[in-house]
Amino acid sequence: MVAKLLISGGRKLCGEVKVQGAKNSTLPILAATLLCEDESVLFNCPKLTDVDATIRILRYLGCKATRTDSTLIVDTQSMKRSDIPHDLMREMRSSIIFLGVLISRCGRAKMSLPGGCELGPRPIDLHLSALRQMGIEITEQHGELECVANDGVKASKIALSFPSVGATENIMLTAVKAKGTTIITNAAKEPEIEDLADFLNKCGARISGAGESTIIIEGVEKLYGCSHSIIPDRIVAATLLSAAACTSSKITLDSVIQSHLSSIIPVFEQAGCEITCRSGKLTIDSPRRLYSPKLVRTMPYPGFPTDAQAPVMAMTCKAQGLTVFVENIFESRYKHVDELNRLGANIKVEGKVALVDGVRHLFGARVRALDLRGAAALVVASLCAQGNTHICGVNFLERGYDELEVVLQSLGADIKKI
Ligand code: EPZ
Repeated sequence: MVAKLLISGGRKLCGEVKVQGAKNSTLPILAATLLCEDESVLFNCPKLTDVDATIRILRYLGCKATRTDSTLIVDTQSMKRSDIPHDLMREMRSSIIFLGVLISRCGRAKMSLPGGCELGPRPIDLHLSALRQMGIEITEQHGELECVANDGVKASKIALSFPSVGATENIMLTAVKAKGTTIITNAAKEPEIEDLADFLNKCGARISGAGESTIIIEGVEKLYGCSHSIIPDRIVAATLLSAAACTSSKITLDSVIQSHLSSIIPVFEQAGCEITCRSGKLTIDSPRRLYSPKLVRTMPYPGFPTDAQAPVMAMTCKAQGLTVFVENIFESRYKHVDELNRLGANIKVEGKVALVDGVRHLFGARVRALDLRGAAALVVASLCAQGNTHICGVNFLERGYDELEVVLQSLGADIKKI
């Protein structure tokens, strides 16, 4: 039975909620536990279907992985395989993050090509050219990827043509136990990269510069499991801020890292919201009607994050004036526009530009989520629509949001999963 969400919009939100741990930190760090041959403990891990899929891969490889609430314990001692079967790869495109750790631990890796996803083709050319530079022999045939590090992994100087998050992570994970020093230039600077480096350094790695555009990895012999707490999810924080802003609400988010929201907060302030931060808590106080924030361009970190584009676009649907969105990271990340227009929004898409002409009212309707952040956008918009909205495709939401409907209920929203 496919779950759906029923939302009765128009209610103000109030109260305080804790922001979940970051999905895009949890996934690479779970893969990184394979670099240690013993036990790691991860705190603040969100309950997500993408995390479940990653745990299934760890178990398939022979590891023990157990969850107690938001704590995950992974013991990789009994790991015995270095291949990921097709069905597990298809479940989640970001499983490509296992490539580096399998090569580093087993000297080989086999998996099916991740293929595309709802955001359009998801090429891995930057991953593969970097690994080839590190001496890994890669053959691609019949949709399968076979990698062998014949004479070990070669530390190298790698210049990324684009600051790809996944490629930066795969290079780091491959290089931590290579002989010599690997340097990545034009590396991705996302906070999740820093969190991964923090975890690896706690395991005994020697990584410096994570979070900047040049990362230096000095190879070490062995890594040992450690315990680590995952950083808060900045995209979930942006989503909850969007929900508050479009319902003229005042709410407080607990456990946010303000610097991770440095390009997000100004958008809400331009829309007329008042944001105050103190000791890890962030309070947003929203006006009766939002102003348009004028221009939102997605860029690699520290620019405005592409993952926040959809929920923030939902927030601008009723703002006063025209908001221009420019999506520079993914080529088809506007699948939520048609569904937002079904709720009464007035959005036009021209290539990578979307023009949102603010309307006075949105009206509940039956809508369908087509990807993870698009699902979040529909939830945000339905909260400030008059009447009832049915959202199907909730499975997309559960990939990245840990019980979002429960979090919103605790803030006073009339939302339930049916
Ligand atoms: C990570 O994906 C995130 N996923 C994405 O979050 C996020 O949108 C993205 O980074 C950008 O911030 C995880 O961390 C699990 P990229 P990733 O490699 O690593 C192109 C979400 O909603 N590219 O930085 O796949 C690529 O096609 C998800 O939580 C190449 O051309 O992102 C895209 O256009 C969605 N060749 C751009 O770079 C490559 O070899 C950014 O990709 C790799 C990427």
